[in-house]
Amino acid sequence: VAAKFFQALGNAGINVRAIAQGSSERNISSVIDGNQATRALRAVHSSFYLSHQTLSIGVIGSGLIGATLLDQLHQQAERLRKDFHIDLRVRGILTSKNMCLGEPQIDLRHWRDPLKAGTKPDWEKFLAHIQPDHLPHSVLVDATASDELPERYAGWLEKGFHLVTPNKKGNSGTLEMYRTLQKVARAHNRHYLYATTVGAGLPVINTLRDLVQTGDEVRSIEGVLSGTLSFIFNSFNAQKKFSEIVREARQKGYTEPDPREDLSGMDVARKLVILAREMGLPLELKNIEVENLVGERARGGSVDEWLSRLPEEDGAMEALRTKAASANECLRYVGSIQPGGKSAVQLRHIPKDQPFATLSHSDNMVIFRTARYHQQPLIVRGPGAGPEVTAAGVFADLLRLTAYLGGKA
Ligand SMILES: NC(=O)c1ccc[n+]([C@@H]2O[C@H](COP(=O)([O-])OP(=O)(O)OC[C@H]3O[C@@H](n4cnc5c(N)ncnc54)[C@H](OP(=O)(O)O)[C@@H]3O)[C@@H](O)[C@H]2O)c1
Repeated sequence: VAAKFFQALGNAGINVRAIAQGSSERNISSVIDGNQATRALRAVHSSFYLSHQTLSIGVIGSGLIGATLLDQLHQQAERLRKDFHIDLRVRGILTSKNMCLGEPQIDLRHWRDPLKAGTKPDWEKFLAHIQPDHLPHSVLVDATASDELPERYAGWLEKGFHLVTPNKKGNSGTLEMYRTLQKVARAHNRHYLYATTVGAGLPVINTLRDLVQTGDEVRSIEGVLSGTLSFIFNSFNAQKKFSEIVREARQKGYTEPDPREDLSGMDVARKLVILAREMGLPLELKNIEVENLVGERARGGSVDEWLSRLPEEDGAMEALRTKAASANECLRYVGSIQPGGKSAVQLRHIPKDQPFATLSHSDNMVIFRTARYHQQPLIVRGPGAGPEVTAAGVFADLLRLTAYLGGKA
């Protein structure tokens, strides 16, 4: 009981100044700062299931993923409260243009209008509102593709926020940034969760972590890691032009905000970097050989300009496709990591009887070959992009966080 009591205070960042336990072992007293009393009481009550496990949430970005997450949180809120005593409170939403805050929380039935009518983003106000004195746990969800926000992650963790994100830019930035984030999260007893940065809602990072932490030796990882490129090459056939399929992938919400991120191979390369670092390899983006599918002249300019010129690429892509088809092969964009060897992202010709050739829709497939999985590899396969599955993966990280904090999920 004492362990649970003090763990709950510790998780909520409450400084314990004095402790006394009666010899009857029927009471524990502790002295804390008066201004942390409500927060401490909530933390302790919820850890013994005497009240709900409350999480104050700030969502940054209300694009495809952010919006879908907010709708999913709304749909599940009642069930989580009733069945699991979890109270997930979205208290703020912030985008690059607007911000809205809610007390005690934003009514998620109607978050779009207040956000549209909201004020200009004010980070100081936003962070203070997500971390009020009376709530024990606060989490920020970075649902943007920004490469500026990850620069702030360490500061947020130091201030006591937990962090959940599908944004790859932090963990695939410099190795120094990756290591700093892991170190700061550990030092401040905060959780930094990013399961959706590889494979969207699929259990790729968590599977790899389980292999590594239980002492398996990972010999290679190969993967079709981009839902967008998987969809594009799985749908590419004699009836459809390459440029038409790229547009369709964008309309379905599979692509990055700028689809050139996918076609350049950078998105897959970032995912490889994240997987490599989870394996303990000190890999930087520059160490990965990347085959860029965006022609040099098409790399600048706006997304719309590029899309209007994309049909110019159709001829070259069709030639590649027919060459593969005539050898009973298909095209797949594959990333691979070989510890001690080279890591690369390339368009490969895959024989029709190989696992990657069986992919359909926007499926991802990751093949782990390890000391334990050497006769047959461990394969994770399924939809690896799209707002519903990605937002659900972020949601699952939020529930994982409440479980780490002592909730029932
Ligand atoms: N789509 C998928 O299947 C998938 C799968 C796995 C991971 N992801 C990742 O999920 C993240 C979100 O993707 P998305 O498709 O939802 O992107 P999106 O539709 O472009 O939405 C991005 C949102 O972030 C906001 N934003 C951008 N920069 C910001 C900043 N500096 N400060 C505050 N807000 C900012 C934008 O606000 P404004 O509209 O005001 O500019 C917008 O609301 C990305 O990192 C992506 O890589 C996506």
